[in-house]
Amino acid sequence: MSIKQICRNIFKKRSMDELIATSKRSDLKKTLNVFDLIVIGIGAVVGTGIFTIIGTAITGSAESAGAGPAIVISMVLAAIACVFSALCYSEIAAMIPVAGSAYTYTYATMGEFMAWMVGWILMLEYAIGNITVASAWTGYFIQFLKGFKHCLPDFVVNFPLWLRYDYRTMNSLCDAQGWDLHDKIPYLFGHIPVAINLPAVAIVLILTVLLVRGVKESTRVASIMVGVNMFMILSFVIVGAFYVKPENWTPFFPADPSGVIMGAFLIFFAYIGFDAISTTAEETANPQRDLPIAILGTLVICTILYVSVALVLTGLVPVGNIDVQAPIAHAMSYIGKDWFAGLISVGALCALTSVLLIYQLGTTRILYAISRDRFLPKSWRLIHRKYRTPHVMTWISGLIVILCGLFMDLNISAALCNFGTFTSFVIICLAVLILRKTAPDRHRPFKVPLCPWFPIAGILICGVLIVYSLNTLKTSSLYFLLWLIIGFLIYALYGYHQKRLEEQPRKILKK
Ligand code: ALA
Repeated sequence: MSIKQICRNIFKKRSMDELIATSKRSDLKKTLNVFDLIVIGIGAVVGTGIFTIIGTAITGSAESAGAGPAIVISMVLAAIACVFSALCYSEIAAMIPVAGSAYTYTYATMGEFMAWMVGWILMLEYAIGNITVASAWTGYFIQFLKGFKHCLPDFVVNFPLWLRYDYRTMNSLCDAQGWDLHDKIPYLFGHIPVAINLPAVAIVLILTVLLVRGVKESTRVASIMVGVNMFMILSFVIVGAFYVKPENWTPFFPADPSGVIMGAFLIFFAYIGFDAISTTAEETANPQRDLPIAILGTLVICTILYVSVALVLTGLVPVGNIDVQAPIAHAMSYIGKDWFAGLISVGALCALTSVLLIYQLGTTRILYAISRDRFLPKSWRLIHRKYRTPHVMTWISGLIVILCGLFMDLNISAALCNFGTFTSFVIICLAVLILRKTAPDRHRPFKVPLCPWFPIAGILICGVLIVYSLNTLKTSSLYFLLWLIIGFLIYALYGYHQKRLEEQPRKILKK
């Protein structure tokens, strides 16, 4: 085959009409309405960022300055970084309401190779991002167990460290504490170290079973979780507001102004997830109307919520005393409300569980769309006879999180998730620009205002964030490169050939 032919193949696009027609034939149930979508949005967005990462963003760390009370400015900056991409997601999701999110949109605009790579990169955002959330879940779960130390046996409350943390985290912990790793973890056959984040594995397994049983059932559980979590956050804001000491807000800006930018970079993780809404397009009853409302609605609700939480938190606790492990719960203990701190831990567990659930739903739906295009084996997208869900794919998604979680810790997985998200945001903004040129007359139920300036702003902001983080985070950059190489090899050795096989019968028919 000539180079010219290969190039023609890898840039082959799928027509939007064909994509929409395929999705209409989909076996997935179309049951979700705008409320379900906003629940999915808030459930995917509110989690580790606001319950854990906010602490480091305010106080800073050994490597970066903190934002102090100006974290509210960082939050608004992070929201602005997201809003351009959210507008672009809304335009395309309403125009091509098909499962697969950025993967599908790339297929319609940039061709099959880029589409596969974007799908592969999206796995970083969804599956690898879930490792971060599952690790944070374990942290709050341990806090929660400690709250019951008087009624639970000691071996449950203080279960062994090698069953709480992955190998990398165990290693850092032993370094920090001056412990010998060999004393703290068992070795299989004397050589293979065994360190597993067991609570994280357990919660991922439970959620996988739930997702196999049905998307409506899963969003129902997510709604309950989102309800509990919203109630806790709002109670924190309302109760906390009475104890705020305005003097804690001065000085408002940190001595090192770069803290505000670093705060925006860190807190960006708190906004990731609104794009998960577009992965369920094929299960939405009225996608053209509901997807844009849900995407933008989620972003607005979360920004208001985050800014309120940040104002109350920094008003309650002086910056130097803010806890970085569980800042919100600690703020309540700080003002003498220990029982409330316990309730906040329950809220955090609910928030993290819903993020896990929705991210896994997203992983499955993206893999489903990729496999439907033949880049992954057909058997993976078998639909369960009784529950009408892609059960094989759901199990595969769960196993990816569990297996990769054995090799990555919270920081690496969070950085990889950010890389994946920034990249997909850039692609989405590009796709809007391309489609405005290639399909100017196509009906757009929602349009990005001030095009091309808004998509260009999205590309620039996310591009700068990618370059900045690639330069700063060396280990994660290496993992990112490795991920891209593996993706490329799967396409070159498997996906490309499967696509050509798929085209064979059509060619023969044409002859
Ligand atoms: N935004 C999600 C969280 O903060 C990823 O957990």
